[in-house]
Amino acid sequence: MPLTRDPTGRALLGGLALDTILGRSDVSTPFYAYDVDAVVAEAAHLQDGFDGAPSLVCYAVKANSAGRILRRLAQAGVGADIVSGGELDVCLGAGIPADRIVWSGVAKTDAELDRGIAAGLLSLHVESVEELGRILARASALCLPASVSLRVNPSVEVDTHANIATGHDEAKFGIAADDLPAALALLEGQGLVTLVGLSSHVGSQMRSTSSYVEAATTLARLARQVRAAGHTLTLLDLGGGMGIDYGDGCDVAPADFVCAASAAVRREGVSDLRLLCEPGRAMVGAHGVLVARTIQTKRWRGRDTVGWLFIDAGMNDLARPALYGARHRIEPLVQDGTKPVRWKVAGPVCESTDDFGVYDLPDPPAGAVVIRDAGAYGYTMAGQYNGRPLASEVFVEGGIVTSIATESTAAAWAVRRLAT
Ligand code: LLP
Repeated sequence: MPLTRDPTGRALLGGLALDTILGRSDVSTPFYAYDVDAVVAEAAHLQDGFDGAPSLVCYAVKANSAGRILRRLAQAGVGADIVSGGELDVCLGAGIPADRIVWSGVAKTDAELDRGIAAGLLSLHVESVEELGRILARASALCLPASVSLRVNPSVEVDTHANIATGHDEAKFGIAADDLPAALALLEGQGLVTLVGLSSHVGSQMRSTSSYVEAATTLARLARQVRAAGHTLTLLDLGGGMGIDYGDGCDVAPADFVCAASAAVRREGVSDLRLLCEPGRAMVGAHGVLVARTIQTKRWRGRDTVGWLFIDAGMNDLARPALYGARHRIEPLVQDGTKPVRWKVAGPVCESTDDFGVYDLPDPPAGAVVIRDAGAYGYTMAGQYNGRPLASEVFVEGGIVTSIATESTAAAWAVRRLAT
């Protein structure tokens, strides 16, 4: 469940009052907290969206790669979409079998290709004719078979932030439809690398299903052509990108995307293909928060806000506002009825972009705030700029804290820098 409130105004995540974590000696702020049960439930909703068609939800691990989450998803039969050797390690270690893992990414290194081939993944998603040539060379050097899918760039415009639109014809991702014949030609006359599917991913935080369905339709039509050319395809990967409600509305549910896209695939007459999807944000975004303490204020007069409200989370902890102008609702951890005023909320990092935006929050300020919908692309994009330790992570299951991760401290950062 996304964040809720109890009758006294305390913020609850997965049934747990988050202010109880503030009192713990083993967790400091800022910390991420995740409702792991809700993430597993999202996977089940997505699976239902396929309406009984042969399918697999391949969770896009880049959104949140916590082992606690991956282990639960592995048990629930979910697969993974990965983009690096590190993500492969964490998925295999968490118990997601290789035959449920697909590997996307525009420029996998030779060492990564070798690992992907040796692991026997469900599919290495190929993003260029050049990469396919490299996969053929690595498979032949290793004398090992490999299953590949061609990631097609369906040339679809997506209504989202320019930095997260990937399906247009100038994006670095995917193979242009015009280049498919060259890719298919490379596969002729060899026996190690088998083409098993086509994939696409056109963008992230989509709040309508139209571009997703358009891409699925293009993919299905291309699948028919590729089959007609004599290739035995078994899967179509529809990609991720399902949007969530960051407080500005989102009328479609993640399952609506796969439901509408599966129907489009059926209409194109290739309904025997196993359908995959690669949701990241939609599975974890709403089920994680970032909790920070207020450090101090800095007031001014005669402006439309009362001043700065500085919190102990910064752009190194949650980069989305600085990178994409993203707004994450910020609320007092405990709403006690104090009258709100307009604050400019910022972190301590020495960058002007370390600015979360304007929010109505109490004056005098609450001791701690909760930044909502931070479960996706929060911790995984965090860094240690300004000598700041990585935020802790707290995992909530069955209404209690079941795991805490605090691998990084300011002292450890100093040791690492001094080791040079
Ligand atoms: N599949 C592929 C090939 C991708 O590149 C991505 C995300 C996904 C699946 C998952 O997309 P999702 O379902 O999470 O939208 N850091 C940005 C988002 C970058 C997405 C990159 N690719 C943000 O915080 O909004």
